[in-house]
Amino acid sequence: MTTTHPPEPFRIKVVEPIRLISPEAREAALKEAGYNLFSLKAEDIYIDLLTDSGTGAMSQDQWAAIMRGDESYAGARSYLRLKASVEDIFGFKYFAPTHQGRAAENILAACLVKPNQYIPSNMHFDTTDANIRARSGRPANLVIDEAADPTNPHPFKGNMDIAKLKAFIAEHGREKIPFGMMTVTNNAGGGQPISMENLKATASVYRENNIPFFIDAARYAENCYFIQQREPGYKNKSVKEIAREMFSLADGMTMSAKKDAIINIGGLICVNDETLFQNIKNELILREGFPTYGGLAGRDLDAMAVGLYEGLDEAYLSYRIGQTAYITAKLNEAGIPTIQPAGGHGVYINAGAILPHIPQQEFPAQALCVELYREGAIRGVEIGSVMFAHPDPESGEWKYPALELLRLAIPRRTYTQSHFDYVIDVFAKIKSRAQNVRGYKFTYAPELLRHFTARFEPL
Ligand code: F0G
Repeated sequence: MTTTHPPEPFRIKVVEPIRLISPEAREAALKEAGYNLFSLKAEDIYIDLLTDSGTGAMSQDQWAAIMRGDESYAGARSYLRLKASVEDIFGFKYFAPTHQGRAAENILAACLVKPNQYIPSNMHFDTTDANIRARSGRPANLVIDEAADPTNPHPFKGNMDIAKLKAFIAEHGREKIPFGMMTVTNNAGGGQPISMENLKATASVYRENNIPFFIDAARYAENCYFIQQREPGYKNKSVKEIAREMFSLADGMTMSAKKDAIINIGGLICVNDETLFQNIKNELILREGFPTYGGLAGRDLDAMAVGLYEGLDEAYLSYRIGQTAYITAKLNEAGIPTIQPAGGHGVYINAGAILPHIPQQEFPAQALCVELYREGAIRGVEIGSVMFAHPDPESGEWKYPALELLRLAIPRRTYTQSHFDYVIDVFAKIKSRAQNVRGYKFTYAPELLRHFTARFEPL
C-alpha cells in the first residue's frame, strides 16, 4: 500500500496564511450558513477542498509571465505566445481563448446543437450537460458499467461503452447527433481516466458515422499521465507525446484551463473545421470578446501559455497523482471507503457506507460534509441526493442517485502532505462517532441546482 508520495517538486516562496477557528466559532458559522458549506466565508475554512478549479498555485514563471501581459485589444503578443503553446501541445488548426470552460461549451452548443438533437459522451460534466440542455439538446452518458461500482478497480473506469455508443447511434440516427464527446478524465464519475485504446475506438465509431468528435480536455494531462503509467505500450512515451496522439483523434476540444493549465481563470476552444471556426469567432465576439483575447486579460493568456507546459511536467504529475493515491490509501487504512481506484484530481468518499443509518431522504453525504467542517474546518463538496435527487416528471416520485459521495478535490500545488495527514485524522475522528451523526432536512431549496443555495436544519 502507498504510504508516501513523491515529495513536492517545488519549495514555497510566497505564503497565504490560513487559520483554524475554534469549535464554537465553527458551530456558529454552520448555523449562520444554514448548514450549506457553499455559504461559508472562505476565511472560516482551514483546508478548502471544494474544487480543484482555479484554486491552484501559480509558479514564479507564471507570475513573471503576467508582468509581460500585452493588453492590446487585438493581436496582442500574449495571444501569440498562447497560440504557440496551444498549437504545439494540441495540434488543432484553429483556437480561441474563452473566459472559462463553460463559455467554450456554450459557444460550441450555440454553433452546433439544434432542438432535440443528441450529444453522447462517456459522461458530461454538469456545465456541459446544462449548456446542451439550454439549447434544447439531449446529453447522454454512455460510460462503461464498471463506473457505477465504487469497489471495481478497473484502471480506465472513465471509458466509453463502445457497444452502447454504437447502439445509441443506430437508435437515434447519425443525422440527429451533431457531435459526440469524451470527458478526460471523467470528473462526474470519480476523476477516472480513459485509455488510448478506448479513445481510438470511440473516435473510429464517430468517424464511421460522420459525427465530429470533441474532447472535454479539462484534465487531459492527468489522463495522459494515467495512460503512460497504466496502458501497455505507453511507458516510454512522454506525456506530451501521448497528449498529441490523443488530440490527433479528435476534431476539436473545449477546455477549462482552470484545471490542467494551472491558472485561476481561463478556457480554450479548438477546432479543425474552418467554417465552424468562423461561426465560433462570431459567437465569441458577441459574448466573450475579440477572438484574440476571448474575455481574458492579456496577462491571463500569458499565465496560460506557461501553465499549459507546467501541467504536463512529469515530476509534477507524479507528485500530484501520488497525492490523491496517498490520501485514498490512508483513508482506506482508517476504514473510510472511497471510489476505487484513486482518481486524478480528487478523492471520492462513499458517505452512504460511512453513515448507513441515515436514509437518502435525510442526505447522508451532506451530513458528512457538515461533520468534516465541524470536526476540522475542512470543506468538501456533496455529490449525492442534495445535488442529484429529483422528482420524476411523470409520477412525481423522488428519484435518488446510486451513490452518496463526498468529493475532496485537490487544488494543484497548494496543500502539502501534512495538510492531508490532518484531513485523514479528522476523518478517523468522525468515523469513531459516526453512529451518532444525524441527517438533515431542507428549510429552503430552489428547484434547479439547489445545492448552491439550499438551507438545512439538523434532524
Ligand atoms: N468540464 C469539466 C470536466 C469540469 O470539471 C468543469 C468544471 C468544466 C468542464 C467547466 O469548466 O468551471 O471553467 O466553466 N469543473 C469544476 C469542478 C467546477 O469543481 O469540478 P469551468
